Amino acid sequence: MKGIILAGGNGTRLHPITLGVSKQLLPVYDKPMIYYPLSVLMLAGITDIQIIADPDGLPGFQRLLGDGAALGITLTYAEQDKPRGLADAFIVGAEHIGDDSVALILGDNLFHGPGFGEILRTSARDVDGCVLFGYPVSDPERYGVGEVDASGRLVRLEEKPAVSRSDLAITGLYFYDNDVVDIARRLNPSERGELEITDVNRTYLERGKAECVQLGRGFVWLDTGTHNALNEAGQYVQILFNRQGVRIGCVEEIAWRMGYIDRDTCHRLGLALSKSPYGQYLMEITSNPRYEEAS
Ligand code: TTP
Repeated sequence: MKGIILAGGNGTRLHPITLGVSKQLLPVYDKPMIYYPLSVLMLAGITDIQIIADPDGLPGFQRLLGDGAALGITLTYAEQDKPRGLADAFIVGAEHIGDDSVALILGDNLFHGPGFGEILRTSARDVDGCVLFGYPVSDPERYGVGEVDASGRLVRLEEKPAVSRSDLAITGLYFYDNDVVDIARRLNPSERGELEITDVNRTYLERGKAECVQLGRGFVWLDTGTHNALNEAGQYVQILFNRQGVRIGCVEEIAWRMGYIDRDTCHRLGLALSKSPYGQYLMEITSNPRYEEAS
């Protein structure tokens, strides 16, 4: 399975911050925002990942992450010249996807929860159709919303419904089989001129091939697209670290725990950042047996 991180967009809700820098390069506590979606794909076992961004933003991501070799993965980059919508990722990324299945994650989404890695790896296996991830929210009218029947089967999808029959938001993480490229190419732009991901998902739903994994209580899904949300996400990451001593979204640690790089390499990556607590953390977890088990 290939991976795509969609990291373009306008970031208008974060103006004036995003006038000079890509939203997905902004800090969420101790690391750039894009580390969080990148770590999700890495946890899913995906090691061939394309970052799609706007022409101004792309060099920043390349400077930050390079070709991925340091993390034992492959990173490539593609330009989206205008924000044509989330489903445009499959057209821009068609060559990268090739004849494989693909996981798309939005560059400003943060996920955290118990057993998430296992859920991801199970869901990524032999995708036939699409796998969406639903998360109950108090304000479903702001999201694409999914309705499931008593057996948990997805029966309906709506985009930002004025009155919603369900509180299950469809999060910014999607797994698709290879049909997605063709489906995206056949889409018509919506009223706001974008290729909508909900239209892609509806096509799968009509084919009876849309699954929804529900992320329940105890899970955290945060989007970081507003000033408040960005601040709250930073606080969440900070609280976990201060209380438990764990850093979430730490791509070097995940690369090591997933076996993409060995312990010494991870330690060296920490050493290169040793003036920051982030680098010191990498050095600590690779030398202190207390951190042996995956956290
Ligand atoms: P949004 O948060 O919907 O849009 P945005 O980032 O442009 O922000 P704003 O609403 O404040 O103007 O986008 C979700 C994610 O998808 C975000 O990481 C940006 C990315 N994106 C693209 O890369 N290309 C696109 O065409 C769109 C619509 C979004």
